[in-house]
This record gives sequence, structure tokens and C-alpha cells, in this order.
Amino acid sequence: MRCDQTPAWKALQTHVSGFAGFDLREAFRADASRATELAQSAPHVFADLSKNHTDRATEALLLELAQQTGLTQHRDAMFRGEHINSSEDRAVMHWLLRQPASSLQGTLAAPLAQVHATLDAMLQYAEQVRADEAITDVVNIGIGGSDLGPQMAVLALQDLVVSGKRFHFVSNVDGHELASVLKDLKAQNTLFLIASKTFTTTETMTNARSALAWFQAQGGRDVARHFAALTTNVDAAATFGISTTFGFWDWVGGRYSIWSAIGLPVAIAIGAQGFRQLLAGAHSMDQHFQSAPLAQNLPVRLGLLDVWYRNFLGYTSRSLAPYHSALRRLPAYLQQLEMESNGKRVDRNGQALPYGTSPVLWGEPGTNGQHAYFQMLHQGTDVVPLEFIAVKKPTHKLADHHELLLANAIAQAQALMLGQHDAGGHQHFTGNRPSTFLLLDELTPASLGALIALQEHRVFVSGAVWGINSFDQWGVELGKVLARDIHARILSGDAAGLDASSAGLLARLR
Ligand code: F6P
Repeated sequence: MRCDQTPAWKALQTHVSGFAGFDLREAFRADASRATELAQSAPHVFADLSKNHTDRATEALLLELAQQTGLTQHRDAMFRGEHINSSEDRAVMHWLLRQPASSLQGTLAAPLAQVHATLDAMLQYAEQVRADEAITDVVNIGIGGSDLGPQMAVLALQDLVVSGKRFHFVSNVDGHELASVLKDLKAQNTLFLIASKTFTTTETMTNARSALAWFQAQGGRDVARHFAALTTNVDAAATFGISTTFGFWDWVGGRYSIWSAIGLPVAIAIGAQGFRQLLAGAHSMDQHFQSAPLAQNLPVRLGLLDVWYRNFLGYTSRSLAPYHSALRRLPAYLQQLEMESNGKRVDRNGQALPYGTSPVLWGEPGTNGQHAYFQMLHQGTDVVPLEFIAVKKPTHKLADHHELLLANAIAQAQALMLGQHDAGGHQHFTGNRPSTFLLLDELTPASLGALIALQEHRVFVSGAVWGINSFDQWGVELGKVLARDIHARILSGDAAGLDASSAGLLARLR
């Protein structure tokens, strides 16, 4: 049943009107067990949800909403390999990429065997590259899901990165990006990874052609040694001239592909064992999502909170603050995950929806954000739920820093909640501003894997309740088509039939 037609939705609408005066400070005073009841442990991740605009009654109604919208059936359909990506008629099985070998029977046994054959070959190749001292620079050329995941993870795990190699990520068709990377490289020391699920994306193909031309102009001959393709479109890679290829499958969405051959830069950076730990951490979160009762299921609790905020309290964005500088690309990664998955205005059958879907996701690492936009979070006119991500143990040995960092994270969550009431005017903070606090013991391949899988599944949960297809992305197509037309017009100067604004810009650019 569509979520807004369920009894639970109607009950939540009634409930929210009585919720208008909800105050976090009062909620903690009234309920001594609030902090423990609204906390949730999951593999590698502890979550304190208690500073959110929610309570047990709200959570109970949200769980009814999950039941009435068939969340568990939809989840189980994904894990059975059904074609839940209906607009593309595809299964959604990124989770299979982190499933241990030979652990499934039936129709999934064969794809799982292929997954492990490819994984073994890719990790063997990664170890070979790691041992190859002549390769000092690895350049990943890809965009969107073929860039953000590996880039984010290589940065996040920077302390484990093999010495003697530098990793570069080129995504933008803007030639400034590729040119600035190439200027410091030598062909004989460089490995290019051309990462593209489709092997047709304009940006990636343009960068790949330029990289190949640069390589050959430098005297490079051995393309098989210096270029590898990571793609589902092995034929297109071969036509391009790349014979070293690691494949994956159409049931892996681009933004869910870090676990596939797209993860090769991560595997080269942290080694085969590290990559297997990343997969194992994600798998432990898959198991939690599949088997924990919904009331103690962290992705479910987070995803339902997202629905409550978006559709009942009217919070249209969520901010993310990783208190760990190595997680500085995580907001960009999660932006694609959330907004490309759930930025949809029609249901799975293509019918327009009368309610909101994806929140705007944005953020920067703490403490940097504190000295930039946190002002708005504390005293602005909009309420923006903030998600903190903190890591207990640092990997550096500098005295004082880490305690100061963690103190700031807790203090910010506290300030958002408590506010300041003994001063008026500009110095008055209303408080009662919501936040979630996610805590990892350490930033390791396993905990990173679990954290990413947690975010994947929470996006699944809200998308399932909204009744949308979280696994297609038709909204990116129109711009691609129009760019081809405008590109031809930039070359020819033909503005015939263009709207006046676009024609004016074209004239200025020629
Ligand atoms: O244009 C959007 C998109 O299709 C993303 O979903 C994807 O991650 C990105 O482009 C890159 O696509 P590909 O890996 O096929 O080059």
C-alpha cells in the first residue's frame, strides 16, 4: 500500500500535531531511559539517536508504517535477487559482492561464484601492482559512482595505503583536472584505471582518450600494462584498446559499485586483505539489516527517522559532519547515494507522488563546519538535523588533538540540543535542534565497510517506504542529451531554435 494511504501514516499525521511542543530537554527530563532506549548498536557502529525529535511512541508508529508498506518483503525481495529495479528490469545485488564464497544455494550460487572468481582475479592483480615498483602513480578515471566511492575510501584509509604509490582521481570533463594530474606524471610509471560501468560516459571517455593520447605521445607502448578497464561493458573496453579488464554486472548500481571491480584503486591502496576486510564489514551490516528485529535494526531506525523528518516535521535537508578529516569525501559520496537513489517524484509504477522524498544531503568535516555554516544550524530559521560521525581511536600520536576533536563533536550536539537561554537577542540560542551521533571505535576497512553499508540500507528503507525505485537515475539523462546538442552548436555557432537565454550565452562563449 502506498505510504500515505496506510493507517499508520494517518496515525502519524495525528501524532505530529500533538508533537508540536516537543522539546528535547523536556524529553530527557521526563524519560530517564531515553538515552539507552534511543541508542542502537550495530556491527562496528554505535548510534545515539536520543537527541532527535522522536520518541518511543513515534518509533512505534513508524514501525507500523514500515510493516504496512511492506518494508521487510521489499528487503527480502532484494536479497532474493528479484528485479526490484523495475524501470530497468534489473536485480539489485551489490550486497552479493560482499557475500562470503559458497554461502548461497539455488539461483544465487552461480552469480556468487562469478563474483568470487572476479574478486580473486582483481585482488591478485592489485597485489601485482602493489609489488611493481615501476608503477608510482595510479590514476583512476571515472565519475559519479565510478569515482566517489574509491576516492572517498582511499582517503579514509590513507594510513594503510601502500608506500611508494600516489593515487589520483580524475572525474571532471574539465581538462584542467586531467592536465593538472598529467603534468607531474611519467608514462612508464603510471597506471590508468578507466572506471565506467557503461563505458560510454562522456566525461570518462573524453578523459580516457586524452590519457591514452598523452601516454602514446610520451612514448608509451604497452597499453596492456598501463591501462586497465573496470566495467560491465567489456566489449567497449576492448574496442577502446584495453585488454586488461575486470568486469561486473548490471545488477550493481553505479553508486553501489565500490564493492565491485570499481573498488580496484582501494584494493591496490590497502591490499587484498584490507579489501576483503572492507567487504566483510559491509557483510556484517547486511546480516544485521536482514536479521535484527526492526525495532533494533539500525538502518531501519535511521531510514524511518528520515521519513518522519521529511514528511511529518518538514525538514527538507540533512547535514553530515564527519569528525575525522580522512572522511572528508564522505559527504560527497553519501550525497550521490541518497539523492540519486531517492530524488524521485514518481512511485515504482511511474505515478506522481503527493509527498516529499529525498532530503538534500550536505556537509563538511568537523570542526571545519563549525567555523563556517554551523551558525545557521544553531540560530537559523530552518531546522536541519545533523549527523555526527566520530571515531574513538586516532591513528596519529599527536597529543591533545583527538580529545579536542571529540570534545567539539559532543559539545556541538549538546549546544544544538540545550541552546542558551540566559541571554537575549543575538546571543539567544533556542536549542532543541536535532542530531544523531554515530560512533566507530576505529576507522578500519571493516568499520568503513559497515558504515557505508549502513548508509546504503537506510536509503533503501526510506525509499521502500516512499514506494519509489531507489535504483534507477533517469533524471541525469536529459542534461546528457542536451549537452550533445549544445556541444555541436558551440562548435558550429548555430543558435537556431534555441531559447533566448541559451542563445545569448552561446554567443558570448564563441
Ligand atoms: O550520470 C549518472 C551516472 O550514471 C551515475 O549513476 C554513475 O555512477 C555515473 O553516471 C558514472 O557512470 P559510468 O560508471 O557508467 O561511467
